[in-house]
Amino acid sequence: HIKHHLHRPDTPLNLHHVVGSTNDIIKQQIGHWPSGAVCLAEAQTAGRGRQGKSWLSPFASSLYLSMYWNFTLGYQQISGLSLVVGVAIASTLKRLNINNVGLKWPNDVYVNGKKIAGVLVELEGQVGGECHAIIGTGLNIRLPQQAEQIDQPWTDVANELSGEVDRNQLCANLINELQRCLTDFEARGFTPLLEQWRAFDYLADQPVSLLAGQQVIEGVARGVNNQGALLIDTPSGQRTFYGGEVSVRRR
Ligand code: BTN
Repeated sequence: HIKHHLHRPDTPLNLHHVVGSTNDIIKQQIGHWPSGAVCLAEAQTAGRGRQGKSWLSPFASSLYLSMYWNFTLGYQQISGLSLVVGVAIASTLKRLNINNVGLKWPNDVYVNGKKIAGVLVELEGQVGGECHAIIGTGLNIRLPQQAEQIDQPWTDVANELSGEVDRNQLCANLINELQRCLTDFEARGFTPLLEQWRAFDYLADQPVSLLAGQQVIEGVARGVNNQGALLIDTPSGQRTFYGGEVSVRRR
């Protein structure tokens, strides 16, 4: 059912019932699958989030999707990658007529201030050589009550659309949009996608707190630069932060 809606029907699709983490399945297949290949599971027993957190992955209630992409560009040039993935998810939701979709740098996807999806990008390969990107996304479709354990406000697609969700169609739309954005990014870099990212910027001009190691930094968020780094106005001037090193929240 998913293949039927794909722009690239030859996309390798690996469907699983239960896995540890879909990102790990992709990792095991590096060298065997082409860019754009997808792994999907109905549930994960060891789903991972950013910053070493786990990602609750109950059965059939979310999309647990990982996509492989092989970049010949160096690490420096793909620093905007995780933002590009956010743009693909946000655009997919907007096309479903979900309004107020926002991206919280680097790539948490929010609707009306509640998290609806998260992205975990993992990179493998040698510095100077080709780079293998494992792009994992968890998109909430219809989470069960047990999800109360989640440590922040969340929502899901069913709630935002207050009705039936065609999961296969949504999944195919997301795969199409990811492949389109990643192809564009590979060919033209992050700068052309920056405008799209800005349109979803959830932190723009907001007072924020950043946690960098043990240090808390307060300031006002001023968007991102053309490498995807976050710009913060602080009392001592503007500072630039790269993904992975900090976490940020609205004050
Ligand atoms: C986050 O917001 O912390 C990122 C969550 C990413 C979860 C997805 S689900 C599919 C893929 N497999 C994983 O183990 N994690 C990602």
